[in-house]
Amino acid sequence: MTARRDTVFAIAREGIGDSRLVTAVEDFLGTRVPPEWWTAPASSSGQYHPAFALGDGGLVRHSVMVALWTADLKNLYALSGSEASEAFAAGLVHDGFKGGEPWGSHTEPMHGHLAADAWRHMTGGAWPAVEDAIRRHYAVWDPIRPGTPLTMSPVAATVATADFGAARKFPYDGTWSGMLRGL
Ligand SMILES: [Fe+2]
Repeated sequence: MTARRDTVFAIAREGIGDSRLVTAVEDFLGTRVPPEWWTAPASSSGQYHPAFALGDGGLVRHSVMVALWTADLKNLYALSGSEASEAFAAGLVHDGFKGGEPWGSHTEPMHGHLAADAWRHMTGGAWPAVEDAIRRHYAVWDPIRPGTPLTMSPVAATVATADFGAARKFPYDGTWSGMLRGL
């Protein structure tokens, strides 16, 4: 656990070019999110995530994968340096309340809103773009406004796209990846 935490915090320092934002991410993950975030799988059913995101620490690995996707997608969405840092930070923390608070065995539908609210309270509203990206990471699957057409900031769109890509099974495992390797 300590090793896992140290690695996540090292990744945060590597990917976020703002030491105050790094500290906020460390405080949020280290003291604010339910401790189960550090050990839970990304998907309780195993249905919606690739194998690397399942099992002990799966949600942490998913969150790091989302952050790494944002570091690539920042070029596609032409993010500024500070926007790229905000997207990377939001990627790391977006599922901090995935199991709700207290943490349950299934995905809490409001987890994006819970995490966004907790982030705003903990940071005093210092990073509204991070809060917005956490809140909007569901994209069209937002439980408050399901199916709403996408009108997202570039930072929020980066995080939602990163989350989508990191959660697909087919690029990582399953039938399609096997077929692709065989071509
Ligand atoms: Fe996610």
